[in-house]
Amino acid sequence: MASKAKAVGVGIIGFGTIGTGVVRVLRDEAKAIEERLGYPVRIVRIADLDTRTDRGVKLRKGVLTKDARKLINDPEVDIVVELIGGIEPARTFMLEAIEAGKSVATANKALLSEHGPELARAAERKGVAVGFEASTGGGIPILKVLRESLAGDKNLEVYGIVNGTANYILTEMSDGRGEFGEVLEAAQRMGLAEADPTYDVDGIDSLHKLVILVALAFGKRIKPKQVHVEGIRNISSIDIAYAKEFGYAIKLLAVARDTPKGVEARVHPTMVPVSHLLSQVGGAFNAVCLRGRALGTSIYYGQGAGMMPTATAVVADILDAARNMRDGKAGAQLVPTYGRPLKTLRSSPVVAMASTSHEHYIRLSVADKPGVLAKISSILGKEAISIATVSQHASPARGAVPLVLRTHRAGEAALKRALAKIGRLGDVRAKPVVIRVEETLGQAD
Ligand code: HSE
Repeated sequence: MASKAKAVGVGIIGFGTIGTGVVRVLRDEAKAIEERLGYPVRIVRIADLDTRTDRGVKLRKGVLTKDARKLINDPEVDIVVELIGGIEPARTFMLEAIEAGKSVATANKALLSEHGPELARAAERKGVAVGFEASTGGGIPILKVLRESLAGDKNLEVYGIVNGTANYILTEMSDGRGEFGEVLEAAQRMGLAEADPTYDVDGIDSLHKLVILVALAFGKRIKPKQVHVEGIRNISSIDIAYAKEFGYAIKLLAVARDTPKGVEARVHPTMVPVSHLLSQVGGAFNAVCLRGRALGTSIYYGQGAGMMPTATAVVADILDAARNMRDGKAGAQLVPTYGRPLKTLRSSPVVAMASTSHEHYIRLSVADKPGVLAKISSILGKEAISIATVSQHASPARGAVPLVLRTHRAGEAALKRALAKIGRLGDVRAKPVVIRVEETLGQAD
């Protein structure tokens, strides 16, 4: 379709995996995109410090530059896509682009979780758009669902699997392909995990995404440092085997509930009942569950990472920004960044982890001799922690056996005190492993 309408110009800062995907989607779907918009989208400039590597996509001469500011200030660039990641210089580039009257789109969850409101404020002042669909859930359009499709409902709970790398590792471990370290190394060799896996396996990436989900789901601003985070490094295949025996799968979950005391938000490995759909989410896939007062529970599943899925989310933001610019009223974004005027996005306390309560799985490595279980149950009893089940398998390792306890719902603070005492018993041979069990996901308390 040869169009006479003037193209919307796009500049991309960061020509890595996702940047390359965006170029490919804009190229491969150019006709469909033009049909939808009524005008074409043209890549005007791409900025990256590495202008030599062949990314396998053809660019017009002069498109590639090392100079991000040249891109931002190019009058032909209407929309700036930030794909370099990290806080700086990404934040400064985005603020400069907004100041120059350009809409921005990004996949940067670290930046959005820390500085999203700052970017939204700047964009609101300038009447431009900030798109960050690709930051959370990769190709799953969960943010648009929260911002627009569920705008009529009151969201009570948002939870799910939002890190593909961690989910891939847990799935491989569950399929018997080794312990955490071996599976991680294999994933790194195959390019499925980053050389520095910290953000993915220690829960930080999930945390950033949870903060973004909370803002859109509840209209509440929480800070990443307020949220309790645990990763998956301490999970062993023996825990996965016990979980299976009890009817659970172990998943790294990000969970948030809107409560009268504040937002309950946490990221940690969780035993999910095999009857829950989340237990079936395997490999690098993501799934986000929402519970709304009117809708009840809805689940969004798909590829949470990767070049092409993530690129589709960025391109959708580009289309939204183009429509706002061309078709919206000057100076007014049709749908605000957080689906609400920024002044109504209020800071909220986060419920202290110590004051939450859960059912727990506790694995101890203990000497197999009389009186050990009695000492442990006495400590738990003194903290008013009720034991639901006890299981000991005869598999001695240097004289120690695994003793697995499941508790009824118990306060975190009491459990912490009890574990400290249990850990000091001479017959307890290793640091206790504790995994929270979620029986009530998606159900009102
Ligand atoms: N590193 C993320 C993951 C993908 O493993 O899910 C980007 O958000």
